[in-house]
Amino acid sequence: MEDLSPRPGDLDAIETASRDEIAGLQLDRMKWSLNHAYQNSAFYRARFDEAGVHPSDLKSLSDLAKFPFTTKKDLRDTYPFGMFAVPREKLTRIHGSSGTTGKPTVVGYTQKDIDTWADMVARSIRAAGGRRGDMVHVAYGYGLFTGGLGAHYGAERLGCTVVPMSGGMTERQVTLMQDFKPRVIMVTPSYMLSILDEFRRQGIDPRESSLAVGIFGAEPWTNAMRQEIEQSFDMHAVDIYGLSEVMGPGVASECVETKDGLHIWEDHFYPEVIDPVTGEVLPDGEMGELVFTTLTKEGLPIIRYRTRDLTRLLPGTARSMRRIEKITGRSDDMMILRGVNVFPTQIEEQILKCQGLAPHFQIELSRSGRMDAMTVHVECTADAADENARASSAKALAHYIKSIVGVTTKIEIRDPGGIARSEGKAKRVVDNRPKE
Ligand code: DLL
Repeated sequence: MEDLSPRPGDLDAIETASRDEIAGLQLDRMKWSLNHAYQNSAFYRARFDEAGVHPSDLKSLSDLAKFPFTTKKDLRDTYPFGMFAVPREKLTRIHGSSGTTGKPTVVGYTQKDIDTWADMVARSIRAAGGRRGDMVHVAYGYGLFTGGLGAHYGAERLGCTVVPMSGGMTERQVTLMQDFKPRVIMVTPSYMLSILDEFRRQGIDPRESSLAVGIFGAEPWTNAMRQEIEQSFDMHAVDIYGLSEVMGPGVASECVETKDGLHIWEDHFYPEVIDPVTGEVLPDGEMGELVFTTLTKEGLPIIRYRTRDLTRLLPGTARSMRRIEKITGRSDDMMILRGVNVFPTQIEEQILKCQGLAPHFQIELSRSGRMDAMTVHVECTADAADENARASSAKALAHYIKSIVGVTTKIEIRDPGGIARSEGKAKRVVDNRPKE
C-alpha cells in the first residue's frame, strides 16, 4: 500500500501546535460556549441555575466538571427545537438521529456550524490520506442521518470530486466504482463488507479496484476487521467517529500514517472520560464513558454530552491533539451474560480468527428458564460450506469465545448470504428475551 503520510504544509497549524497553545484556545472557546449556551438557550440557563453554576465559574478547563451533563433524554424532552441557542430562521440545516421511540433527536446548524463541520471532515479525509483532486465515493446514507451530507460537504471542502451515492443499490455501487474509479470511499464498515461481496459476485478482484483509502465509521468495528478490509481491497482502512448531537462525522479521526486510534479535533470539541456510574471525571488513560462539550457550535451548543460510548483518552501521536482508543462499544450495546460483560466487537474479533467463517454475524439473546443465553449466527465462506467444515468452524468459534471472551455460546452457521446485509449501521444484536 502507498505511503500516505502528510507532506509539509498539508496540515492546519493547530494540528501540530503545542499542548499549551491548544489548552489556551480551548479555555477561551469554552468560556464563549458556556456563555452562549447560558445567554441564548432557555434549557441551559435553567439547567445551570438549577445546579447553582454560572459560566463565570469556569476559570480553568477542569472547572468544566462543575457543570451538569446533557443526555439524549434532554434532547428528547425538548423535541424538536427546545435546546437551540439561535432563532430557527438562523439555522441553515436540520439533522436528526433515529430514535428508539420513533421520534428522532433533532439537531440544528447555523451556516458557520456547517462551515466548521466541512472543515473538520476535510481535515479527517486528509488525515486518512485523501487529497485535493481525489474522487470520493460517499456511501453513507443521505438524509436526516449526518453521515452522507457530512462526508459530502467535507470532501467538497477538501477540493475532491464527490460521488453522492448514499447507501443501497449495491450492484450499482460496484458498477459506478468500476467506471468512475474513486480513490476514496466513505461508508460504514458493515456496508463495505456487502460491497466486497458484490465485487466478488460480479467476478471482479477487489484488489484491482481503484480504491486506495476507506474512511469507515458510524458503528464500532475492530482492528481485525480493518485487516480483513485492507487485505481484501489492498487499501488503507481508517476510522472516523462522530455523533449528530455533537456535530456528525469528523469529531475525531484516525491518521493513516499511524492507525492508532482517533485524534479528537480538540480545537472544536472538548473531551472528558467519566465513570459511567458516579459521573466522576477520570484521568487520561482510564476506560470510561466519553463526554463532549462543543467549543464553537452556535445552533446547538452542547455542554458535557454523555455519548454512552466507551473508550479512553490517549496522548497525541501523529497530531498534537489527544486520541480516543477505537471504540469498544456503547454502554447500551453491552450484554451481560452470567455476570460477564460482552460487546459485539469482541465476538467480531473471534469470528475473524476462524478460517471458514465470513464476518457477517448477528447475536441473538434468549432466555431459557432463568438463564440468559447467547446464540451467534454467522455465515460460512463458500469454500467451507460442507457439513464437516461447518462443524469445525462452529467448534473453533465457540472455543475462542469461551476461552477469550469468557462466555458459553451456541453457534449457528448460516449459508453464505444467510445473514441480512446492512446498508448503513449493522444491527448486531437481536434481543428475544421476554420483556420484564
Ligand atoms: O453515526 C455520525 C457518523 C457518520 C460518524 C458517519 C462516522 C461516520 P449518529 O447516528 O448520531 O452519528 O450515531 C452516533 O454512532 O455515539 C457511536 O455510538 C457510533 N459511532 C459513530 N462513529 C463510530 C466509530 C453518526 N468510528 C453513534 N466507532 C456514536 C464506533 C461509532 N462507534
